[in-house]
Amino acid sequence: MTRYNSFFPKTEIVFGPGLLERLQDFRGQRIGIVTDTFMASSGALERVRSYLDGCEVEVFAEAVPESPLDTVSAGARQFGAFAPDVLIGLGGGSPIDAAKAMLAILREMAPERRIRLVAIPTTSGTGSEVTAFAVVSDPAKGRKFPLISSELVSDIALLDPELVRSALAGVTADTGMDVITHAVEAVVSTGATHFSDACAEKALELAFAFLPRAFDDGDDMEARDAMHQGSCLAGLAFTAAGLGINHGMAHALGAQMHMVHGRSNALLLPYLIAWNAELPATARRYARIARNLGLDVPSTRAGVRALIREIEKLNAHLGMPATLQAAGCDLTELSRRRPEIAAAAMADACTASNPRKPRQDELEDLLAQIAGHA
Ligand SMILES: NC(=O)c1ccc[n+]([C@@H]2O[C@H](COP(=O)([O-])OP(=O)(O)OC[C@H]3O[C@@H](n4cnc5c(N)ncnc54)[C@H](O)[C@@H]3O)[C@@H](O)[C@H]2O)c1
Ligand SMILES: [Fe+2]
Repeated sequence: MTRYNSFFPKTEIVFGPGLLERLQDFRGQRIGIVTDTFMASSGALERVRSYLDGCEVEVFAEAVPESPLDTVSAGARQFGAFAPDVLIGLGGGSPIDAAKAMLAILREMAPERRIRLVAIPTTSGTGSEVTAFAVVSDPAKGRKFPLISSELVSDIALLDPELVRSALAGVTADTGMDVITHAVEAVVSTGATHFSDACAEKALELAFAFLPRAFDDGDDMEARDAMHQGSCLAGLAFTAAGLGINHGMAHALGAQMHMVHGRSNALLLPYLIAWNAELPATARRYARIARNLGLDVPSTRAGVRALIREIEKLNAHLGMPATLQAAGCDLTELSRRRPEIAAAAMADACTASNPRKPRQDELEDLLAQIAGHA
């Protein structure tokens, strides 16, 4: 069993003026692009293509939220025939995850081929451009599961905040709360180290300062840029440290109750901080986050409460639903499916690094408690 830790950011992260010019290095190569219909029609795809002069380009624009297995295999078939040198994931977490999952299949099909992965995120949320995760779903079974492998980490991430400018306020809010959840869970995770903390704490500083601004004014490019880098930092943090039950439960609610990922994270976060904070060492870490955010922290307990209040305040500012019902969840169905949802959350890979080890009945009780606040 491994006793040592490592922090190995494999991705070249490119940011700052003129960054898409980095694509011109691929001149003469075969480029596959995975994106969604919105990006294909919004001008973003054309913008990226304009830097790929002299390349042979093939596009798969059918990525959809949660990367269903059918979509992933359709893309892998298309690119299996095209044989790209480079695969680009362009879009939010869904197209980037789809590209990663397709790449995993392409590498199995032709292990001798070296295919480089380039991620160009257009939301500031998942951090997928640097993470070892790709979330895929099996709609027939109502399951959503993360693939986890260092093979899924992209070679290059191009962080162009201009591409996020068009994100509507609702998408900005959902994805921004995903960033906060990644960073908070990374700080208290069993895998946290000083290196992951450095990334997570900076991500939290940026997100608490700039998410309200990016939400209020999508053209505030200082805020967009800060959120884009914050999202990436949170991705570095959690890919090294792991996540926790917040994501385990959000994945289960996404797969079985079709709840939006960032929104369920935002809603669950105050409850799960309170639950995890029963562990004194974890409570101290939450209090440290609160202190870093400049909140009043006269004691550990007060620090945990201050952090929860700050998250609730931010959720309210962003118009996040305060109850599962308001988030579009059918409470009767939830009550019927509670054991299944709790079981899926227990089995989710993210739950393994949660600081407090849950039992299934505890997760069922938590779901009932959260639903009771409807
Ligand atoms: N790989 C990881 O490490 C990781 C981590 C967390 C979540 N995820 C997964 O990522 C997915 C969610 O990704 P997401 O939150 O980025 O959303 P998304 O990719 O599903 O996009 C949400 C919507 O926003 C639109 N959109 C994206 N960028 C836009 C822009 N710039 N302007 C206007 N509209 C835009 C999309 O077309 C889509 O309709 C989920 O499947 C989630 O489970 C992955
Ligand atoms: Fe997430």
